[in-house]
Amino acid sequence: MRFIVSQLAIYSIAAVMQISSVVADSGFGESCSSIEISYTTLSANCAEVDGSVEAAQIDLSTCIGNSNGQLACGVEYQETCSGCDYSGTVLYCECTNDSDQPVSTSIDLNTCIGDNNGELVC
Ligand SMILES: *[C@@H]1O[C@H](CO)[C@@H](O)[C@H](O)[C@H]1NC(C)=O
Repeated sequence: MRFIVSQLAIYSIAAVMQISSVVADSGFGESCSSIEISYTTLSANCAEVDGSVEAAQIDLSTCIGNSNGQLACGVEYQETCSGCDYSGTVLYCECTNDSDQPVSTSIDLNTCIGDNNGELVC
């Protein structure tokens, strides 16, 4: 019985991951741990569908942009943002807006990055 329950849990997780990867790549924070950001590289340990854990990395410059002083899903935020820091899955930076003025902004990286079977994707 315990075996059946755990198998069901694995199939449910697999089903949820398949649905979420169809809708959007987001929510890596739920299945990844040990999240660290060094310059534009995000590293984490991410769960695969079978429950094993994979060391994964993604270049945030391919996932995050600057939209008029606001961090957003996009690309190349590092070209117009500086002083970035993070806490958990939230990235904080000072980004220049369209008038070239610095603006403090943050984004929950969960909204732009997903865990696709142990691989970080955006
Ligand atoms: C840019 O930020 C400055 C300072 O907050 C603000 O006064 C200005 O209106 C902003 N420009 C745009 C295009 O949003």
